[in-house]
Amino acid sequence: MQENIQNIKNEALAQIMEAKSASELEKLRITYLGRNGKIQEIFKKLKNMKLEKRKHVGNLVNEAKKAIENVIDEKKIELTSNLIDLKEWFDLSIPGKKTDIGYLHPQTQVLTEILNIFNYLGYQVADGPEIETDFYNFEILNFPKNHPARDAQQTMFFDTSGTKLKSGVMVPRTQTSSMQGRIMEKTKPPFRIVVPGRCFRYEQLDASHGIEFWQVEGFVVDKNARFTDLLGTIEYLLKSLFGQKAKIRFATTYFPFVEPGLDAYIECTVCEGKGCTFCKRTGWSEIMPAGMIHPSVLKKSGIDPKEWNGFAFAIGLSRVVTLRYKIDDLRILHTPDVRILKQF
Ligand code: DAH
Repeated sequence: MQENIQNIKNEALAQIMEAKSASELEKLRITYLGRNGKIQEIFKKLKNMKLEKRKHVGNLVNEAKKAIENVIDEKKIELTSNLIDLKEWFDLSIPGKKTDIGYLHPQTQVLTEILNIFNYLGYQVADGPEIETDFYNFEILNFPKNHPARDAQQTMFFDTSGTKLKSGVMVPRTQTSSMQGRIMEKTKPPFRIVVPGRCFRYEQLDASHGIEFWQVEGFVVDKNARFTDLLGTIEYLLKSLFGQKAKIRFATTYFPFVEPGLDAYIECTVCEGKGCTFCKRTGWSEIMPAGMIHPSVLKKSGIDPKEWNGFAFAIGLSRVVTLRYKIDDLRILHTPDVRILKQF
């Protein structure tokens, strides 16, 4: 019996070494290790042996089985690597062709980042019309007709001659604050909302002005929203965007729909506060206008200002992009040259 096992093993190893293909190897595997293979046959005979002998023979068969398995595995690797060797025309050293993947516009990247930060702070994202009524863009936000604050909004008007529409009833929105009234009218407080969107103004085109720009408006209405919550929110956003070392300062200013109103400035990231053309030589860049929501805006939107209050703020996307990437001319962001996008 011992000799028999040895013979089977030797025969198997010799044949396996000679195998020329994977299918030949598989056939040999079945012949020796398969369910009705030669090794299995010996295992079946073990049953009728005496204990001592069974142990001894059992060990030998197991050893033979392992040896055959190992050689099969080795041969398998050899045969598959031969396969590659055979295809000599396939030059593995040629560098692969790089697929040109798409690029997200830096403004889109910044927007995604801003929305993620607000998502983390528990804000919901809302969307609204770019062609807006005078009512939501101005009236409800405390800009009555002929109010001087309208001047600063550089509003563009549609040519309505020959149509039934009265001039000025609808405008390309000048600010995403226009969504404050729309949302407050329909939503029960408390809420935290951000509204990203495109706005339009009649601007003289230059390195830092275009006739359309992206703004993210944010506002919170709650039982006890504090001025310091507003300052903390602005600081959190700016430090998340520009790093913990970013220097921020606040100054008071006026917007009709907030009281008090403020402007947040960030130390110019281009000149690091020394003064350059970016920051108009002041060392600071105006980045976020904000304020506590005026009680009359709440009231006009159907929210009781005795019970609720809130704060609002806005951030312009192109300002973030130019400061972050030190781009000195906004206009390059709107050219269709992919070489520009590839850099971000
Ligand atoms: N919508 C204003 C603008 O574009 C900016 C602004 C000021 C937004 C104060 C606010 C705010 O939410 O509280 O000129």
